[in-house]
Amino acid sequence: MGLNGEFMKKRVTKAIFPVAGLGTRFLPATKSIPKEIMTLVDRPLIQYAIDEARAAGIKEFIFVTSRGKSALEDYFDHSPELETALRKKGKEDLLQALKTTNMDSGAIAYLRQHRPLGLGHAVWCARRLLADEPFAVILPDDVIAAETPCLQQMVEAHAETGGNMVAAMEVPSDKASAYGILDIKEDMGSVVSVKGMVEKPPMGKQPSNLAVIGRYILTPNIMNNLHRIKTGAGGEVQLTDAIAQEIEVSGNVYGFRFRGQRFDCGSKAGFLQATVAFGLAREELRDEFSQYLDEMMATQNAAQ
Ligand code: UTP
Repeated sequence: MGLNGEFMKKRVTKAIFPVAGLGTRFLPATKSIPKEIMTLVDRPLIQYAIDEARAAGIKEFIFVTSRGKSALEDYFDHSPELETALRKKGKEDLLQALKTTNMDSGAIAYLRQHRPLGLGHAVWCARRLLADEPFAVILPDDVIAAETPCLQQMVEAHAETGGNMVAAMEVPSDKASAYGILDIKEDMGSVVSVKGMVEKPPMGKQPSNLAVIGRYILTPNIMNNLHRIKTGAGGEVQLTDAIAQEIEVSGNVYGFRFRGQRFDCGSKAGFLQATVAFGLAREELRDEFSQYLDEMMATQNAAQ
């Protein structure tokens, strides 16, 4: 069995969460609050990412953090006083909600990226915590609403393909230059095999409209590629470049068209859209919230 065949049979049990970015688009809030702690309805972004990883069978969670992100570590700690207070008051539902934030001892690891040298560099920082098996990377600011969680869909598809897999979605041509874009070798429907990847192509020069978003399943050799890369587009170490190199080495890179809706919660407009969508999806809020939105739109339209 070849290199790719061996990886094909290994399960994905570790995920890296790169959360060391500066989050400048949300300043001044991110001066003291990590972006990943910002709240969608009643849960921080990181909770959505962790829930998605758990659903996909991830057992080990590796956070690449930076200065000023200690709120993230506290978030996943146990809170005995709060739990006792809720138990005394008989607030079982809140107790259960709180328990979803608890992590088993040893299941979660934190390490620091000392300078924000890019997503690729952040992933590389976790190299010593990985075994010789494929691993997932989740960017918590890409929040995906889906019936079957996105990473779970990918793990299922990856069991068939092996190799490296990136989540992909169609974007309008005038937005392509904001993404990493796939050059498609063969389109097999939900899975495409990839012959090239371009990070932020100039307007009109994109090889397709299929954009990479923040979910990946990668082979360990990506770490070797990251090691060799100095700087790519924008002076940062780009994860996309390391994956693109893998096309030459193994030819085993796939895009996966997930079923679901992705929200770019790293941008203000995306975060607001996600707030509306996730608010409306919550049964206990739906009626009141949609009535408010209807009234607001009616007032706005009347004023125009
Ligand atoms: P972004 O491109 O969204 O950058 O990073 P950012 O710093 O978080 O936010 P802005 O652009 O300043 O507003 C994408 C993902 O990569 C991580 C981020 O934490 C985010 O999850 N990242 C980025 C790192 O971990 N380290 C870096 O050096 C850069």
